[in-house]
Formats: sequence, structure tokens, C-alpha cells
Amino acid sequence: MKGSTSLIRSLAFMLFVAFLVWSSAFETCNARRGRHWRHSSRGTSAAAAAASMWKKKGSSSSSHRSSHKNHNGGSKPKPPSYHKPTPVSPPPYKPKGDVPPPPPKGYNGGHSAVFNVLDYGAKGDGMTDDTRAFEAAWTGACKVEASTMIVPAKYLDGKIIAPTSYKDWGKGLLWWMDFTKLIGITVQGKGIIDGRGSVWWQDYPYDDPIDDETKLIVPIYNTTQKHPPIPIGSELGGKMPGIKPTALRFYGSFNVTVTGITIQNSPQCHLKFDNCIGVVVHDMSVSSPGDSPNTDGIHLQNSKDVLIHSSTLACGDDCVSIQTGCSNVYVHNVNCGPGHGISIGSLGRDNSKACVSNITVRDVMMHNTMNGVRIKTWQGGSGSVQGVLFSNIQVSEVKLPIVIDQFYCDKMKCKNQTSAVALSGITYEKIRGTYTVKPVHLACSDNLPCVDVTLSSIELKPIQEQYHMYEPFCWQTFGELTTPTVPPIACLQVGKPSNNRPQSDHDAC
Ligand SMILES: *[C@@H]1O[C@H](CO)[C@@H](O)[C@H](O)[C@H]1NC(C)=O
Ligand SMILES: *[C@@H]1O[C@H](CO)[C@@H](O)[C@H](O)[C@H]1NC(C)=O
Ligand SMILES: *[C@@H]1O[C@H](CO)[C@@H](O)[C@H](O)[C@H]1NC(C)=O
Ligand SMILES: *[C@@H]1O[C@H](CO)[C@@H](O)[C@H](O)[C@H]1NC(C)=O
Repeated sequence: MKGSTSLIRSLAFMLFVAFLVWSSAFETCNARRGRHWRHSSRGTSAAAAAASMWKKKGSSSSSHRSSHKNHNGGSKPKPPSYHKPTPVSPPPYKPKGDVPPPPPKGYNGGHSAVFNVLDYGAKGDGMTDDTRAFEAAWTGACKVEASTMIVPAKYLDGKIIAPTSYKDWGKGLLWWMDFTKLIGITVQGKGIIDGRGSVWWQDYPYDDPIDDETKLIVPIYNTTQKHPPIPIGSELGGKMPGIKPTALRFYGSFNVTVTGITIQNSPQCHLKFDNCIGVVVHDMSVSSPGDSPNTDGIHLQNSKDVLIHSSTLACGDDCVSIQTGCSNVYVHNVNCGPGHGISIGSLGRDNSKACVSNITVRDVMMHNTMNGVRIKTWQGGSGSVQGVLFSNIQVSEVKLPIVIDQFYCDKMKCKNQTSAVALSGITYEKIRGTYTVKPVHLACSDNLPCVDVTLSSIELKPIQEQYHMYEPFCWQTFGELTTPTVPPIACLQVGKPSNNRPQSDHDAC
């Protein structure tokens, strides 16, 4: 057993390096389309990726490149300066003898050429660093349209494990595995991607932002102030970098599918989509402890047409986090918990403008989460959240099932500001189950009250645990109750605010 564990570790490390190389290769290779990356044996892959065919008649490689640019321009990306990760210093490449990769044995299987990493000198024995072989196979695959890159089963069986030595991470990476500017990529398999985040979680406990809703949770009994564990550093005695990586991230891609896999113990966010159009995530799991700091399950930003369903998300922060620039997002049949619930935001930080619209979250089970369904915005922001439906959310022992917080602040105090991200058209229906702190907390901006907030079939019953319990709270929240609710929510103001000041055009989305 011992032997096989260490084999898996070195294997995993090799994969880690390979992924980094691939991710940069993806960027240089993005003008090609229809690449397949798949596993040579069925059903056992940890993360086999298969790009589905994307054929657009009459467009050449180069025209594709430019149209891709346009797509990006159209979706108003914020090209992040950190876009390309600093590569970690890979372990010294140990050439096997001095054998250059053999010439590609790409063959035509109907429409596609196939590039097997084994043909490029990969060994997959857990000892050889196969980075160059992967690189060569990918480069070969990149040169041919509709090609397939084959990664034999022995590479991707079982777990992909992140290194836990600070040395492997260099100064820090924002992403562990990063897929950039792809069209029609599918990552599927039955395996586990394990970020082994505990070495990071305990490293910087004091710098982590806090969840504002923590301030609403007051324990009944004074507990002796427990200090977080003293940072112990990583296995090899160094501190992990201050930047904690997201385990798996897709950037600037179209029609991305992630299915089957489990992502666990990420140092930070588990699965992130940024500037993507057409995302499907289903039948996958996220699994991390409830007290792991800032470990969002699925994080969406600047992404449109997103479907997330039939998945189980357990983590230390939001199970699903929907950030600025997202629209047409549909989340259903998801289990969430532990975690901080399903959240829109936080939006409008540092006086930024945020636009989110047409979000549906339905048929969700939440167990033992901090929040249920939540919208959180910072004072001083602008833009809007419009058209949100939370429907059939079953909560059990959730501290705060329904939350709007327009005073979001991840420190102890933030300065008061007048502008706000405007909230309208927010519907809650069939939110049922048990809560342990406060059933409803709707705290809206004085200047821009929340409007068109509709609640129906709310049935929330208290369970006394170790917290002080509160009545429903509303501030500057306007709308209607279309059915009686349990408990009664008398604080909601019926109709529209009399002094509703519309946002200036500049602030509207
Ligand atoms: C809890 O702590 C507060 C402040 O430290 C103190 O005022 C209060 O008496 C304590 N309550 C109990 C039950 O010990
Ligand atoms: C994504 O998939 C949709 C539906 O299959 C298709 O209409 C669209 O053209 C695809 N987008 C790209 C960029 O390939
Ligand atoms: C809203 O999003 C859904 C997907 O969740 C989509 O089917 C629908 O067309 C969108 N509505 C509008 C008006 O864009
Ligand atoms: C912000 O305003 C609230 C409510 O009016 C007040 O209680 C709080 O002290 C103010 N905070 C600061 C930092 O001025």
C-alpha cells in the first residue's frame, strides 16, 4: 500500500507539471478547433477531456482566430494581467537517455488524427517526468484540425493530487489547472482531483476575508476564544504562497462541459468559469470540510448560458457563487452543505459596477449551511441584479435561509457609502425547512431600496441550536407576499418606495 501511495504521489506530481504545460499550450493552440483529448480506456479516467467537434463551414484557422478575438471583445472581458500563470519551477527534466520524441504516428481515424503520448516517449511509470512527451503530443495535435490526443489510462486512473511542498508552487499560482480559450471542451471521468488544501488553509488564517453573515450569528454560550492553529508550514518546512490557487479553471471558452469528476480539498475555489459562454456542469461533486476558508464550490464570473445540475457540493464557502457579468444561469437539483449556501455576489466591491440577470436556482437541498439563498453587494457599487428566481429550496438546519445583504463587508467595518448595486425582481417561492438563527434577513440600501421582492410559500421553522434566534428582518425592502408565510414576514413593505430614485444611465446595466 505504501508503495502504491508514493507511486500515486509522484504520478500526481508529474500530472501537475503536465497540466501546467498543457495550459500554456492551450493558449498558443487556441486557433485550432475540434481537438479531442480523450482517454484510451473507457470509464476509468480521472479527468479525461474530450473536445467535441466544432465545425463551422468555410472558416479557416486564421479567420477563426480573429473571430475568437471578437467573441471575447463582445463579452467585455477584463483581461486580467495575471492571465498567464507564472509557471512553477518544474523538477529538473531527466531525459531518458537522450532520446528525442519519436516522429508522430498520427494516423487518420476517419476525420481525426490521433496523437498518443506513448508515441512521444511518455512512460507513465510514476518516475519518469513525461512533461515533454505530453507537450510534444499536444503540439502535434494542435497542428491538425479535429485531432485527438490520447492519454492512456494509467496516467489518469485514480487521483490527480496537488503537490503540498511550497517549493513546487514558486511564488504562487492563481490556478492549478487552467484551460484557456477553448471551444467545445469536455472534462469527464470518475476520478478525483485532490488539491490537498489543508496545508494552505492553516497557513494564513488571519488574512482570510470573513463572511459578513458571520456577524449575524451570535452564540448563546460564551465559548473560550479558540485561536486558530498556529501555521505549521508545509511538509518541507516552508510557508505556502499567499496566493491560494483555484483547482480547475476555464477562461474565455465556449461550450464547456464538466461531468463525473470529484474535486476535493482545493486550497481555494474548486471549479471556476470566467468569461465563458455555454457551460454545463452535471453529476459532479465538490468535497471539502465546512471550515476550510474561502473554498467556493463553483464560481461563475462574466459567464453566460450556464447550466449546473445533479451535483453535490460540500465546501467551506459558497456552494455556487455567481459573480458580476453572469446571466442566464440555471442551477437545479443540487445538494449543498456544508457551505455558505448559493450566493449571487458579492458585487460592487471597490465602487465597481456589477451586472447580473436572469438567474434561476431551483430544486436545491441545503443541509447545515450558513446561508441558504443569498444576494450580497457592497456599499458604493453600481449596476444591477435583475430577474432572480429561487424556487423549491429545501433547507435543514440552515442558519440564515433567505438573505439579501447590501452592506456586505468582509472586514470588521467598512465605510458607509450611498450608491449601491440595484436589486429588482427577486422571487422566493417554496423555501421550506428549518433554520437555526434567522429565517429572513433582507437588508437593502437606503438610497436604492430593493424592489419587486416577492415571497410565496415560505415555511421556515426554528430549531434552537447554540445560537441566539431572531425574527425576520427587512430594511428598505419592497414587494409583496403572495401567500401567507411561516413565520409571518410583516417587515416587507408592500408596493414601491415613494422616493425611488432611479439610477443614472451611467450606473445602469
Ligand atoms: C459572556 O461574555 C460577555 C462579555 O465577555 C459577558 O458580559 C457575559 O456576562 C458572559 N456571559 C456568560 C453567560 O458567561
Ligand atoms: C455552442 O453550442 C451551441 C449549441 O450546441 C451552438 O449553437 C453554438 O454554436 C456553440 N458555440 C460555439 C462557439 O461553438
Ligand atoms: C434566461 O435564462 C434561461 C436559462 O436559464 C434561458 O432559457 C432564457 O432564455 C433566459 N431568458 C432570457 C430573457 O434571456
Ligand atoms: C454606517 O451607518 C450605520 C447606519 O446608519 C451606522 O450604524 C454605522 O455606524 C455607520 N458606519 C460607519 C463606519 O460610519
